[in-house]
Amino acid sequence: MSLFEVRGLSVSFSTPQGSVEAVRGVSFELSPGESLTIVGESGSGKSQTLLGALGLLANNGRVTAGHCVFAGRELDCGPSAEELLGSRLGYIPQDAMGCLTPHLRLGTQLGELLMRHRGLGADAARREARELLARVRLPDPDSRLDRYPHELSGGQRQRVAIAAALAGQPAVLIADEPTTALDVTVQAQIVALLRDLQDQQGLALVTITHDLGVVAALGGRVMVMYAGQVVEEGLVREVFTQPAHPYTAALLAARPAAGAKNTGPMPTIPGSPPQPGSLSQGCAFASRCPSAREECRHEVPMRVGARRQIRCHYPLIDQPWQGIQ
Ligand SMILES: Nc1ncnc2c1ncn2[C@@H]1O[C@H](COP(=O)(O)OP(=O)(O)OP(=O)(O)O)[C@@H](O)[C@H]1O
Ligand code: SF4
Ligand SMILES: [Mg+2]
Repeated sequence: MSLFEVRGLSVSFSTPQGSVEAVRGVSFELSPGESLTIVGESGSGKSQTLLGALGLLANNGRVTAGHCVFAGRELDCGPSAEELLGSRLGYIPQDAMGCLTPHLRLGTQLGELLMRHRGLGADAARREARELLARVRLPDPDSRLDRYPHELSGGQRQRVAIAAALAGQPAVLIADEPTTALDVTVQAQIVALLRDLQDQQGLALVTITHDLGVVAALGGRVMVMYAGQVVEEGLVREVFTQPAHPYTAALLAARPAAGAKNTGPMPTIPGSPPQPGSLSQGCAFASRCPSAREECRHEVPMRVGARRQIRCHYPLIDQPWQGIQ
């Protein structure tokens, strides 16, 4: 049974240049204890998909279509999603430092969350704040309670951001770029922590990342986004060994070979994605796609195969695909 569902979500922004469609009909679902990783180039709509679902868009943004369901309860991608935020839905924003209050000690800010979401008294909240810091493996949690965010390293701040998201005992943890700007060793530790929270504590996990190594390490399912749409979705082990969409294949082919010096988290492929304000009806990847043909100028429906969905007229693997809009 699915725990968290996003159905046909579209998000637009009003800008001085006109309306920008940042997210176009994105759907996914998540079962308890499952991991889904969202990957794609910068600007592909990863963050706005989740911000839209959680009712956290900027003032000039709005959800123009779609809805979300959490534990059987219909959400309006607005106030009712916000109501669950911090409690049943834990969210770690792209900027971990941004979700911590600079002038408050860690014990105070975690304590406030625990009092608000779990109704604990001040002493119990402090004890539980210490437990949360231990749970995210922050060294010496007792003394950290009295520290300020700026006294921590980037990796330690990310652990505190995870602890803050866990304060309301969520069933779903959503982490936007939890490893960006961390060195490789610390990245691996954060990924291991997220995996443990998912495997051992049964949390459903939605992780956004640029880093294909993080996708591989998290396992579970991956959703590849391009120009505001989902272009491929399936099990990581199957998508990574046999990509069905030319964009996924290009990303994987551009990965640095194992052992080679990694020049950046997201491999670069020739050309650049279209601007969200200038999207045409056909395939958004057509100008960069080696397999593009005439039909690709026309609307591309999502195709559903065995354990895989892709948005392409000419999938790279053979399956009895069925098309849906
Ligand atoms: N407030 C806004 N006003 C106008 N456009 C916006 C606004 N916020 C986001 N966008 C646009 O929406 C598109 C999707 O943005 P989003 O933040 O989802 O990208 P992303 O995939 O998370 O990228 P990154 O990996 O860089 O975080 C981008 O083109 C972005 O410029
Ligand atoms: S629809 Fe056409 S252009 Fe788009 S990815 Fe598939 S083959 Fe390439
Ligand atoms: Mg983002």
